[in-house]
Amino acid sequence: MNVTKLKRDMKITARQAMRILKRFTAFPQARHVPAGHQSADAVSAITWFHRIDLGNGVVTPSVENTPEKLPTLGIPKRLDGLSVLDIGAWDGFFSFEAERRGARRVLATDYICWGGGGWGSQAGFDLARRVLGSKVEDQRIDVLDHSPQTVGVFDVVFFFGVLYHMRHPLLALERVASVTKEQLILETHVDMLDCDRPAMAFYPGSELNLDPTNWCGPNRPMVEAMLKTVGFRKVVLHSGPHYYVPCSPRMVFHAWK
Ligand SMILES: C[S@@+](CC[C@H](N)C(=O)[O-])C[C@H]1O[C@@H](n2cnc3c(N)ncnc32)[C@H](O)[C@@H]1O
Repeated sequence: MNVTKLKRDMKITARQAMRILKRFTAFPQARHVPAGHQSADAVSAITWFHRIDLGNGVVTPSVENTPEKLPTLGIPKRLDGLSVLDIGAWDGFFSFEAERRGARRVLATDYICWGGGGWGSQAGFDLARRVLGSKVEDQRIDVLDHSPQTVGVFDVVFFFGVLYHMRHPLLALERVASVTKEQLILETHVDMLDCDRPAMAFYPGSELNLDPTNWCGPNRPMVEAMLKTVGFRKVVLHSGPHYYVPCSPRMVFHAWK
């Protein structure tokens, strides 16, 4: 990942690209792929969002410090016998983690990045799945098209980093609820934290992180109210706010049917 590539891929200025790189590249060693590893060239050719340890000293050179986020999510230590759906999976870090924790079946879904609509692609997921010898399944499908008929129903659903990309957040959560049998783990950007009533910021342009694909910033009562509205019986704030990026607090919610 370098300024030129980021600038081209995200269609932003060099100064904006430098700011983003400074924020996200917390582990300098992760940017280095050891020469001689058989997949080093393939790994380097991909714009990675997730930092995935592929073994043999190869860690994907990512935008996001994914291992830092993992412990904040409260994913159960073991998922033996459970089915897991990872919506907006991108490179699949959390799908592979669910499989590592014993999930019986894992389905990773994504739409924008996997369809070439963002600055990423499905290439990272495909490569990581191959190198890790993973059996995680994949399906390219919009969040709004998720239903028991299209993807099935899963014991545990991950919805990380996707809610604020939704133009229709309540509708999206309705679809997510429809495919959740037991538990949803939701991670999202939040805003308007000073307001104690359900409220949500709207970003019609690139107000949030210079990214025009960010649409909304709900506060804690708003996320909790939306989750209850779409049918979750119990909702708790698991952790947060976390500040991986200044001015973009994140929270993690757990919700049960
Ligand atoms: C910020 S990334 C989060 C990736 C990963 N879940 C994580 O937390 O690290 C947002 C992801 O949501 C996906 N996404 C955005 N809008 C979507 C939509 N309408 N349907 C399905 N996926 C979508 C993007 O393609 C991208 O992979």
